[in-house]
Amino acid sequence: MSFSERILAWYSTHKRALPWRETKNPYVIWLSEIILQQTRVEQGMPYFLRFVENYPNVTKFADADEADILRLWQGLGYYSRARNMHKASKQVIDLHKGVFPVDYHDLLKLPGIGEYTAAAISSFANNQPYAVLDGNVFRVLARYFGINEPINSTEGKKIFAKLAAEMLDLNNPAEYNQAIMDFGSMQCKPKNPNCEECILRLDCVAYQDNLVDQLPQKIKA
Ligand code: ADE
Repeated sequence: MSFSERILAWYSTHKRALPWRETKNPYVIWLSEIILQQTRVEQGMPYFLRFVENYPNVTKFADADEADILRLWQGLGYYSRARNMHKASKQVIDLHKGVFPVDYHDLLKLPGIGEYTAAAISSFANNQPYAVLDGNVFRVLARYFGINEPINSTEGKKIFAKLAAEMLDLNNPAEYNQAIMDFGSMQCKPKNPNCEECILRLDCVAYQDNLVDQLPQKIKA
């Protein structure tokens, strides 16, 4: 089995049932991804549920008073996220007639949406072939392939982006992207990863060379 096939096999028995995985609605996926950007799933969940309930679609969100959005955001921090969301929702009304885009390049133009979020929304909502690259994915790739290049160097960014795109399962980008992120957060954890019970360990360069604790590398800013 290839790397990607094994990630998908692991996911089929370990996947978490999360409410934003039950939908293909790009607006709802966008809400979840922005909330989860600097926030843990357990902390973000009640916020996500409240936002969907108060603003069930992008028109309601765009029509809301920013003060109400910021009040609902209270406790999550990084308030620029909420302000950018309000700006983005207004752009969806003005530029996309209220239809939340699923195209990667359209998404990238919205405030607060970078490469990760554009890849997440376009793949989860529409199965577009864009690989997500977050901290979890960097860690899994760095360890399995034994990549010493720092994840935040110019060269490292190129190497990891290329590798992530190569590993993406083009038959099911949505499922594969969720799978590798969950694999990183639940199995290939930053500290005390569960290597003894890992289906990738025989081919994992970091495990075989005893480098798990040293990868991924990151240069200090
Ligand atoms: N963190 C960021 N996006 C996520 C997602 N879609 N599922 C679980 N955790 C996440």
